[in-house]
Amino acid sequence: MNDPRIIVALDFAGKKQALEFARKTTPAQCRLKVGKELFTSCGPALVEELVAAGYDVFLDLKFHDIPNTVQKAASAAARLGVWMLNVHALGGSAMMRAARDGVEIVARRPFLIAVTVLTSMSEQDLRDSGIDKPLPQLVRQLARNTLDSGLDGVVCSAREAAGLRADIGDAALLVTPGIRPEWARADDQQRIVTPRQALAAGASYLVIGRPITGHADPAYALELISESIAQR
Ligand code: C5P
Repeated sequence: MNDPRIIVALDFAGKKQALEFARKTTPAQCRLKVGKELFTSCGPALVEELVAAGYDVFLDLKFHDIPNTVQKAASAAARLGVWMLNVHALGGSAMMRAARDGVEIVARRPFLIAVTVLTSMSEQDLRDSGIDKPLPQLVRQLARNTLDSGLDGVVCSAREAAGLRADIGDAALLVTPGIRPEWARADDQQRIVTPRQALAAGASYLVIGRPITGHADPAYALELISESIAQR
């Protein structure tokens, strides 16, 4: 079975651009990530359209709420037919277990992963929020909580992937953003790695946005990246 490693971040403001992109590629080449901007402007109907077009959709809404609310939101996402969804590990183990129960309502449940600490947060930001633990330790603890709560894996920087892989085992999914092929601009990403490096570090799936969506020929950009990882 075809199992593309690339998840394209559809960071578009509107439905027209998102569907246009989906027509330029195929579900055999990539999976698609729908985040807060696109979901808030276009709603679940767009997700259903992408799923109906055959795409595996990662619904990146990072749920973080009381367990009952997250369970119901996770069930709603599962009913949309998404392939993967996520929550914040800082929501706690009870919330993550509730999310896991929530996705079980469909026969083929989506993968459920957690964000440990947002990569935009510094250690100072954590201290300002009353969290004194060093950031790497906190990431590892939250990753372990995530797996212990029955989730499938975590979102992490590819630079954290090798350490986390050793910590939480081979079966866990590691989904890594911050990826840039050698030929692409870094944009606002600070600590980038190439697609090959990310996979070598143990990443399961690569989230890639602008190098593909901002390319004059997105299908060609996707092909170049797919070739670079096929030669691993
Ligand atoms: O365009 P680019 O490849 O930078 O897009 C990366 C995607 O991954 C964006 O949708 C961004 O919100 C998401 N992301 C990230 N860093 C994280 C978590 C998610 O860049 N730590």
